[in-house]
Amino acid sequence: MASRDLTGKTALVTGASSGIGRAFATRLAGRGANLVIAARRQTELDALATELRRDHQVEVTVVAIDLATATSAAELFARTEGAGRAIDILINNAGFGTHQYFLEQDWAKVLQQLQLNIVTLTELTHRFGQAMSARGRGHILNVGSIGAYTPCPTYATYAAGKAYVRDFTEAVAHELAPKGVRVCCLCPGGTITEFHQVAGQTVPGWMRAMAFMPADRCAAIGLRALFGWRRNVVSGVGNKVGMFMLRFLPRRMIVWIGAKSMGQPRLAAQNP
Ligand SMILES: NC(=O)c1ccc[n+]([C@@H]2O[C@H](COP(=O)([O-])OP(=O)(O)OC[C@H]3O[C@@H](n4cnc5c(N)ncnc54)[C@H](OP(=O)(O)O)[C@@H]3O)[C@@H](O)[C@H]2O)c1
Repeated sequence: MASRDLTGKTALVTGASSGIGRAFATRLAGRGANLVIAARRQTELDALATELRRDHQVEVTVVAIDLATATSAAELFARTEGAGRAIDILINNAGFGTHQYFLEQDWAKVLQQLQLNIVTLTELTHRFGQAMSARGRGHILNVGSIGAYTPCPTYATYAAGKAYVRDFTEAVAHELAPKGVRVCCLCPGGTITEFHQVAGQTVPGWMRAMAFMPADRCAAIGLRALFGWRRNVVSGVGNKVGMFMLRFLPRRMIVWIGAKSMGQPRLAAQNP
């Protein structure tokens, strides 16, 4: 099923202006899917749309939208399903983290993160899930993180939010399976994208070279899992083994490992 032909289907990819989202859009277009690509940066989306139309002869609609607002999920739904454009595949990929101690974080930024990574993702799953259920078919992929497995100092709200995404996705996958809608969570480990730059985290070169995965490979793993009836997938063998081993450790030690592996935030005023 991994290389199924998606000609005639329409996929909506959030956060398609860079990284894993851009890779999802490119892979889906490569299989013949028409696309709706959403993010804030119009220029990047327009450039990707031009490339995908040229290389794959698919229809691509650009929606420049800030998905960290309370009304954005309703707007995105109105501009697609509401405008008669049925979405067969939803990739809830947009997200960001901030590498900082919790109390040092700007509260407005924390709220934006919770809205984007949790609330908007949930509302899009609700709205498009209803439309897909009514048609008796559809696919939804929610992007979590290996942070879903580890409470993580310096990424406290981000990692906890990804744990929500994983649990929420698996529960909804169970509910929607009898309705013909497949729902899956992709939990990437370190992936070469703009994520860490946006988060303000310096990743050592050796770690990027040895432990990070190209965005395209991560997207391929997510799509294979989604079309293969999986409900959760961790990207990469090393990450899979690591997440499996965590279940044998005391929870306090997992938090310690999380803190050690993330390092100290660049902008820290003090070390608590
Ligand atoms: N890279 C990793 O190591 C890693 C690991 C685990 C999980 N993840 C997850 O993978 C997903 C994709 O991240 P990435 O690694 O590809 O990072 P990225 O290159 O920074 O891409 C993030 C995408 O999200 C979009 N986005 C951010 N804020 C948005 C907003 N307010 N409204 C709409 N779109 C917004 C960005 O577009 P605009 O800036 O144009 O809005 C961009 O397209 C995220 O959910 C992230 O948590 C990444």
